[in-house]
Amino acid sequence: MAVLEILKYPHPMLKKRCQEVDRIDGGVKQLVRDMVETMYRSNGIGMAACQVGIPKRVIVVDVGPIDPEKDLFAMINPEIVSEEGEIEHEEGCLSVPDCSEKVKRKEKILVRGFSPEGEEIEVSGDGILAIALQHELDHLNGVLILDRISRLKREIYRNKLKKEKRKEEGV
Ligand code: NI
Repeated sequence: MAVLEILKYPHPMLKKRCQEVDRIDGGVKQLVRDMVETMYRSNGIGMAACQVGIPKRVIVVDVGPIDPEKDLFAMINPEIVSEEGEIEHEEGCLSVPDCSEKVKRKEKILVRGFSPEGEEIEVSGDGILAIALQHELDHLNGVLILDRISRLKREIYRNKLKKEKRKEEGV
């Protein structure tokens, strides 16, 4: 297993629509293991493959730190089957450091995809699990939490980044 580098906004890879996995082979299983290790090392509760530079439709989620009843799982080519309700919750993202903003999501969601063993699986969840699933599915379509907040808040974040960059460069 290996801890991978997490790409940060505004890396172009984070804006891309990721490709379907057409064969679940050893490489995909290894990717899942590395993503899990990287997620845990960063204290994240979810991660999409594009965040570590692989533009494939693979996610890992473990909301255990917030909801101990839920377990770790990985999903390949996940698709939303159904969704309902509305919930608003503060979200962060390992690829968008120092940003914590309220985002509107569906309250309940049912997602279908494949396990790393190649079996079709379904995951349904509400609350934090539903939020994490939608957040990771967004990543697969090149959508970040910054795309789901107001333009003003997005500008404030961008300006903050610019200022930090200038400071680093000593300008
Ligand atoms: Ni994220």
